[in-house]
Amino acid sequence: MQKTPPDIARVLLSRETIQARVDEIAAEIEKDYEKRENLYLVGILKGAFIFLADLTRRLRIPHIVDFMAVSSYGKTTSSSGAVRILMDLRESIEERHVLIVEDIVDTGNTLSYLHHTLNERRPASLQTCVLLKKEREQAGVPIDYLGFEIPDVWVVGYGLDFADTHRTLPYIAELKPETYRDTL
Ligand code: IMP
Ligand code: MG
Repeated sequence: MQKTPPDIARVLLSRETIQARVDEIAAEIEKDYEKRENLYLVGILKGAFIFLADLTRRLRIPHIVDFMAVSSYGKTTSSSGAVRILMDLRESIEERHVLIVEDIVDTGNTLSYLHHTLNERRPASLQTCVLLKKEREQAGVPIDYLGFEIPDVWVVGYGLDFADTHRTLPYIAELKPETYRDTL
């Protein structure tokens, strides 16, 4: 059992709450993709790696896992708006049913960029699965599977980080604002 770090304000979603929701999302995806072949999960590094690891192990339909890494934030919590591909997919997604798996939608810039970019590669279909969405105004991003809506605060744990710290916390927690205020 890890101790609660001093820069954590409060736990928003417990390990149990997250696991139960991931079960539900996996069941929905199974139902929707049952009759389609070629399901291709695209996990967005680094934030989505734990969510994706849990999701893929719950899916009892055939699928392939691949990854992309994008960057928009650097080390801070403020969005620059510009998204860059740091690592691309290994294979062509043409004719595949692509499901983007992302940790969180904040401004919506990252997901809209990814959606636009992957759509141009002519997949058979393209949907999005997002664990968390902040309650704020966002770029028009279609989210097909959503875990939770959360307040507009900086969260860490379950893959999400602050300057690469706190990724391995088993729960999702709010960071104390004084920790990141200076980086905005
Ligand atoms: P957006 O482009 O503003 O929607 O930001 C999405 C990306 O920023 C996500 O892929 C995360 O990597 C990161 N991000 C946004 N908000 C948080 C947060 O509260 N904690 C950790 N990462 C975040
Ligand atoms: Mg991310």
